Amino acid sequence: MRQLPLVVLTQAFHPEVIDQDLRPRARVRIIRHLRELPAALRHADGLITRFSEPVPEALLAQAPRLKVVGNYAVGYNNIDVEACTRRRIIVVNTPRVLTRATAELALALLLAAARRIPEGESLCRKGRFKGWASDLLLGLELRGRQAVLVGQGRIGRETARLFRGIGLKVDWITRQDSAASIQAKLSQAQVLSLHFSLNPSTSHWLDERKLGFLPRDAIVINTTRGPAIDEKALIRALQRRRIFAAGLDVYEREPDIPAALRKLPNVVLLPHLGSATRETREAMARLVISGVLGVLGGKHPWNAVNQI
Ligand code: GLV
Repeated sequence: MRQLPLVVLTQAFHPEVIDQDLRPRARVRIIRHLRELPAALRHADGLITRFSEPVPEALLAQAPRLKVVGNYAVGYNNIDVEACTRRRIIVVNTPRVLTRATAELALALLLAAARRIPEGESLCRKGRFKGWASDLLLGLELRGRQAVLVGQGRIGRETARLFRGIGLKVDWITRQDSAASIQAKLSQAQVLSLHFSLNPSTSHWLDERKLGFLPRDAIVINTTRGPAIDEKALIRALQRRRIFAAGLDVYEREPDIPAALRKLPNVVLLPHLGSATRETREAMARLVISGVLGVLGGKHPWNAVNQI
């Protein structure tokens, strides 16, 4: 009888999904620490990782049997996909199933930043709410404001639908925009929300210069990847009240959040919760496992990001 393929996981995400979907069709090894990964990969046919775990060529070189890397995430900037293609390894990820959850979180961050919800909440928790006042924590009404979204993928388009639903006007910055057009759009952007994937050409897309074009009442939302923004420049803009606020789910050196950022009242900080709903995380687990098993069964699944 042929042995089942060996799939190594860097985390026991959704154990019941692993039991139902993966264990009947693969031998499963869940490592306890990343330092165990190279040795675990020596005989592995598949690997399932998180976006926070780099998969460079040096690691792939230690995995002679590897046929598939599954990322338990839609963003796969942690994986050297070109090296995978060279080594005839398919990469699969978790698109579509997390689109709505991530867009809802972008909207939540926007509402929280515009209406200063964390400041109000903290006031209540600390027992400092001393009664209604006409000037207490005044925020911004969003209806009729101009939002500019960068990135027209599924999450960007779903976020646009939600933003329109609360009365925001939506415009886009795309790869076709010239530098002058980007500047003109940024100068109108009362809400700027980032939805492109991270690669060397989009790293620090929002830098000091572009932040300088935003209006003073701008709110910046980031649910993609931390390095999409020059975090130091954003901190300076928030400190100097160059913009109204920011809502961040991701950080440049995640999970580190600079103390200077944590001190600011005009920023909403979340611990990378974009896809964190029960429904979505389960669907992500099922999708990444089905992609990995698909490759191991000789198929090219729809959620593959490369061709070999
Ligand atoms: C999370 O950030 C993801 O890319 O799925």
